[in-house]
Amino acid sequence: MYPWLRRPYTMPATVITGGAGYVGSHTVMALIEQGISNNEIVVIDNLSNAYCEQGDDKPTSLKRIEEMTGRTIRFFNIDLNDEPELCRVFSAFDVQCVIHFAALKAVGESVTKPLEYYEANVAGTISLLGVMRRFGVTKLVYSSSCTVYGEPRKLPIDEGHPTGDGLTSPYGKTKFFCEEIMKDVCISDKSWKIISLRYFNPVGAHSSGRIGEDPSGIPNNLMPYIAQVAVGRLSEVLVFGNDYNTPDGTGVRDYIHVEDLADGHVKAIRLFDQPGFSGFHAVNLGTGTGYSVLQMIAAFESASGRPIPHRIVARRAGDIAENYADVSLSHRLLGWRAVRTLEDMCRDTWRWQKQNPEGFKTTHKTKKN
Ligand code: UFG
Repeated sequence: MYPWLRRPYTMPATVITGGAGYVGSHTVMALIEQGISNNEIVVIDNLSNAYCEQGDDKPTSLKRIEEMTGRTIRFFNIDLNDEPELCRVFSAFDVQCVIHFAALKAVGESVTKPLEYYEANVAGTISLLGVMRRFGVTKLVYSSSCTVYGEPRKLPIDEGHPTGDGLTSPYGKTKFFCEEIMKDVCISDKSWKIISLRYFNPVGAHSSGRIGEDPSGIPNNLMPYIAQVAVGRLSEVLVFGNDYNTPDGTGVRDYIHVEDLADGHVKAIRLFDQPGFSGFHAVNLGTGTGYSVLQMIAAFESASGRPIPHRIVARRAGDIAENYADVSLSHRLLGWRAVRTLEDMCRDTWRWQKQNPEGFKTTHKTKKN
């Protein structure tokens, strides 16, 4: 299927699983833009949540990055549970490190499809770790989530907060289980270096407006939902509860611009080169500031210049009132801080949504009725 794979590459490579998706594609862009660029960029993705034009050899997100940067991205449509295929990729490149995004991520869906989530997220991670071990690759950045903390016992949440307690969704448990597995791997063999980045709420899009979040079906998350209301694809935002113990009664979250998040991954990779760095490290990636649902709607109205119709409805099951990060460790350990504002997040989401009202699939096609 990939004939050139028979030629062994000696170029150092960075493998990015799930690199065609939302956070993955922005991280590929940041890696190229910020000069880890001498490495081959090798993306492994099974396209479960990334658009690929029929007949194209790679997903549209990666094609656009290639157009913008002039770089070639090596792409493999491989499922992480397909170990023989993974091994073929690892034997063809001199893999230096892996950034592991590939996972299913819809919280609600995970409740109805737990086995699919455990297989994709937990078994997929075990398969990847096994192949890495076989090829002597021991540097990994893992895409984790603040969901591992469960209901916050105190705010802001720092990395010392207990994890795994009271997790309500299989999705959240998969992130927690994977972290525990990776901790054990690091205990068993001191050559491993694993950084688990616990994301708060990623939003926004690349400043070019050419890559961004492209949820399939009706978005589960607030920001893409607001954006689709603004562009006229959906009629109104349903605000899930206004009786929380927060300043305006609506849920408060720590929204972080996806480009800041991507920069955090680049910083994490740089840490691997620091002498003496080893073992498992979990690090929050957030801004440290929370915004309510109503504040998000108001900020988007002002960025887009359009009214966002919205209606208060009942709380969504499983939601917490408030969540925001203690970001001091990310600053100390990675030398990283989020620098983009809520205005930037809304402006960039709006640019992406306006330029791509139907997401990636309008690239070469006219809109169907
Ligand atoms: N909300 C609405 N209407 C919507 C969607 C969301 O009012 O249509 C509200 C929610 O109730 C919440 C806030 O907007 O108060 C943010 O909701 P999101 O669904 O955007 O994000 P969550 O904080 O619920 O979930 C995010 C990630 C998950 C992760 C979780 C960890 O999407 O993957 O954070 O806390 F597990």
